[in-house]
Amino acid sequence: MQWARNISQSVYIGWNIGKYTGGMGLSFIRIQGLHRLQGEVGIQGSKNAVLPVMAAALLHSGTIVITNVPNIQDVFCMMGILEYMGCRCQMEGHTLVMDTRGLVPVAIPEGRVKQMRSSVMLLGPLLGRLGEAKTCHPGGCSIGKRPIDLHLWALREMGADIRVEGEKITASATGLQGVRLSLPFPSVGATENAIMAAVAAKGVTTIHGAAREPEIEVLCRFLTSLGAEVFGIGTSVLSINGRRPLKDGEFAVPGDRIVAGTYLGAVMAAGGEAVLSGAPVSHMGETLAVARKMGCGLEVQGNQVRARMRGRPRPVKLCTGPYPAFSTDLQSVTLAVASVAEGGSKIREDIFEERFATARQLQKMGAHIIIDGGTAQVEGVFPLMGSRVQAADLRGGAALVVAALAAEGASEIRGYSHISRGYEDICRDLASIGGRLVLEDP
Ligand code: UD1
Repeated sequence: MQWARNISQSVYIGWNIGKYTGGMGLSFIRIQGLHRLQGEVGIQGSKNAVLPVMAAALLHSGTIVITNVPNIQDVFCMMGILEYMGCRCQMEGHTLVMDTRGLVPVAIPEGRVKQMRSSVMLLGPLLGRLGEAKTCHPGGCSIGKRPIDLHLWALREMGADIRVEGEKITASATGLQGVRLSLPFPSVGATENAIMAAVAAKGVTTIHGAAREPEIEVLCRFLTSLGAEVFGIGTSVLSINGRRPLKDGEFAVPGDRIVAGTYLGAVMAAGGEAVLSGAPVSHMGETLAVARKMGCGLEVQGNQVRARMRGRPRPVKLCTGPYPAFSTDLQSVTLAVASVAEGGSKIREDIFEERFATARQLQKMGAHIIIDGGTAQVEGVFPLMGSRVQAADLRGGAALVVAALAAEGASEIRGYSHISRGYEDICRDLASIGGRLVLEDP
């Protein structure tokens, strides 16, 4: 039986003939659990790095080549928005060629904005390049409220006039000005928007309290490779000299630390030994530390992580937080691993209030989880029971896949369209290391 089917090729062809379905709504993953994992899997390029890089490309009028781009729905959606705005985007394998010369100030349709919340990242570059932007509120989502007040505040401080009427956002600026910004919370998206606007602003912008997520560093490195001047990269105080001339460039996206952490979680839940190649090891400090605490043997060499798991995971106590603390994006996967641990774990979510929605689905699989406000108490049981469950969000869906690998019998994970937003082909990847899973397209 062929357990994995590569869907990225069909998505790619679909894209080329101009059809973005936004769908796969009925597709689901069928998993047969309790098979130990063994082998080597490559880690795709980072979703959270490539989306701001694509947005930042708009600051320049010319050709930008981005390599190691993951073939995921969020990238296709961003390509759709950029093409709608007059840019040309051509994906060949994992190389994206963007021609941004034709960018025009058109309103981004609400349907596209709601499909992908990171479209809010276009505000800064559009104001910087065109002096105007028309979009809508990206809204809340299944992981909790996602306000954009800090994004708007930073852009207003730089001189933008922003009107919010219902869902509609209309922004204009006759010339952004460099300013001193002090963020009250290190929001990833607000820091990215401020950096991009600052590159086009007159004078120097300093951002105090900037988020330090690795994806911010990637964005800064991309911008400096085009000619922008950014100082303090990797720290919480960034300084940007605006209006430097930008040039064409080529840039490689690093591996996805969240996908690498997900596959590490799969090895921990199912047991076995696997090599993750192309993992951005220097960005995974806390992820690797938690894996070790949970009993996973790790050998790191360059960008390869060899993970070995014998027996059940050990319980863990952790709290999510802004980088370098443990990533909220890996909280759901860790919840799944803790569900099969030998003993009681305590996991606190401090970033997105609704991320524990996945616990209800894990409970259907037999997990013992009690949610009390922002804290989950988990009493490990092994094995879980194969069940039919529903992904409510991207990382939650991946967590259900991880749990199903440690469940007796067959599981069905519905809501594949959430997972395909950020995982190029989770079935192909986990099947390549011995998982028994297949995508079903009814
Ligand atoms: C980004 C990531 C997401 C990750 C998150 C935290 C992308 C595309 N998404 O999301 O995967 O989970 O960082 O690492 O890179 N907040 C406000 N006001 C704002 C903005 C944020 O109050 O204007 C709050 C949010 O409600 C949340 C916290 O700040 O509680 C973190 O949000 P933020 O860091 O902005 O995350 P995102 O950029 O949305």
